[in-house]
Amino acid sequence: MPLVPLRVLLDHAAENDYGVAALNVNNMEQIQAIMMAAQETDSPVIIQASRGARQYSNDAYLRHLMLAAVELNPTIPIVMHLDHGASPDACFSAIDQGFTSVMMDGSLSEDGKTPSDYDYNVKVTREVVDAAHAQGISVEGEIGALGGIEDGHGAGLSEAEAQEHLTDPDQAEQFVKDTGLDALAVAIGTSHGAYKFTKKPTGEVLRMNLIEEIHRRLPNTHIVMHGSSSVPQELQDIINQYGGAIRQTYGVPVEEIQRGIKNGVRKINVDTDNRLAITGAIRKVFQETPEAFDPRKYLGPAREAMKEVCKARMVAFGQAGNAGKIKVKTAKEMVDFYKA
Ligand code: G3H
Ligand code: 13P
Ligand code: ZN
Repeated sequence: MPLVPLRVLLDHAAENDYGVAALNVNNMEQIQAIMMAAQETDSPVIIQASRGARQYSNDAYLRHLMLAAVELNPTIPIVMHLDHGASPDACFSAIDQGFTSVMMDGSLSEDGKTPSDYDYNVKVTREVVDAAHAQGISVEGEIGALGGIEDGHGAGLSEAEAQEHLTDPDQAEQFVKDTGLDALAVAIGTSHGAYKFTKKPTGEVLRMNLIEEIHRRLPNTHIVMHGSSSVPQELQDIINQYGGAIRQTYGVPVEEIQRGIKNGVRKINVDTDNRLAITGAIRKVFQETPEAFDPRKYLGPAREAMKEVCKARMVAFGQAGNAGKIKVKTAKEMVDFYKA
């Protein structure tokens, strides 16, 4: 089957009360890890590439790797999504390269750092929605700004400042009306990267109640949670055991994400947990077998470690078992859906 627009997967997830992990990739092993996990759990998948990933890998490599994933996994619906598109042009070039879904992140200015204003956000998101929907491509937008800057995304806000840029439910409601987007990313106190919280988050810093309020007002809108790695203690420990230096940190507990899924969260962005798993596996090989120098000897275990994280999230979010149940629509078929 061809690559699938995001909207098709999220509509099925909403109808059947589950969430779908959106997993970042930069290379072949990461794509393979996700597809192995999807095969073993019969999960539909969202594979996403950031601006950094596109620069690192090159769109042509990404496109052909994704086509290989499609060819080798004919029973798995796969979305190829642009993560944090910084401008309409970034979204349009992704669509030209075969992405079936784009995020226009107009919550930040084109530098990908400075929080923008509402009018700018509506203008760029609306522009992308109009052009993308004309081709059947799905669009995610964001209202409110995430904290964290270590991976080059988010407003660089501290844990405290991030609290001032949380999504306002009134504005979220207006934003959905003003833009006509397919999925809405919200800021509820999470941030990108490993260092999200200094202790296990309470409801004061991880504002799941905001998701409940937004879902109450927008019951038909697919909500997206960014910065949703759980930063498991065991992955921190493996890295540190084998010579790494990860400061004690806390992520978003899986049970909080599950609470979100009960309240309209359909897309859950996870990158850091896979990075941690890969790094721990490679460090282990390097420390235990310092004489090894065949990349397959460490990239293989890294791929395996990432696969296990992906499988765990696919099961926890409820997407497992659903790949074969989705009635797939192509981008071309979605053109009529948007016209109707
Ligand atoms: O949005 C954040 C993702 O973790 C991607 O990070 O920009 O370093 O590729 P990146
Ligand atoms: P994490 O850094 O928590 O994995 O978040 C990734 C993300 O939100 C990508 O858009
Ligand atoms: Zn993100």
